[in-house]
Amino acid sequence: MKVQLRLNGDGVEIDAQPDAFLLEVLRERGLTGAKEGCGVGVCGACTVLVNGDPVSSCLLLAGQADGAEVWTAEGVARVAPHIASAFSDNEGLQCGICTPGQVVSAYSLLQRNPHPSDAEMRTYMAGNLCRCTGYASIRRSIEAAANG
Ligand code: FES
Ligand code: FES
Repeated sequence: MKVQLRLNGDGVEIDAQPDAFLLEVLRERGLTGAKEGCGVGVCGACTVLVNGDPVSSCLLLAGQADGAEVWTAEGVARVAPHIASAFSDNEGLQCGICTPGQVVSAYSLLQRNPHPSDAEMRTYMAGNLCRCTGYASIRRSIEAAANG
């Protein structure tokens, strides 16, 4: 089936199997920032923005995204490079598996709330799990991005 997306700001048409999830379709296009961690909508490693909302792309069929505006970590890195830099500068990552999803969610948070409180960060980022670095350093990274 044909799926039309506005992908990282560009109009694209993708040929996708009806049972293909958005995550695999994006990764097949070389957009490998989104990762498959749990595959069941729990870890947030596959987070992308769909029409402005953070979504687990492992759960969304590509066909369900037809006509949507999708932003991946690659697009966010282009329009808001300071966020990934803040993670790197503030020990907000170790292995990096969760980081693209964290950065996408952080971007979304900062779009809605340019200076979130610690509690607001905890709530908004609750769907992005990390098994290596501390959540405190992730929140410190978001705060640095907000101030940068
Ligand atoms: S891989 Fe999608 S939420 Fe974990
Ligand atoms: S940096 Fe390794 S899972 Fe988050």
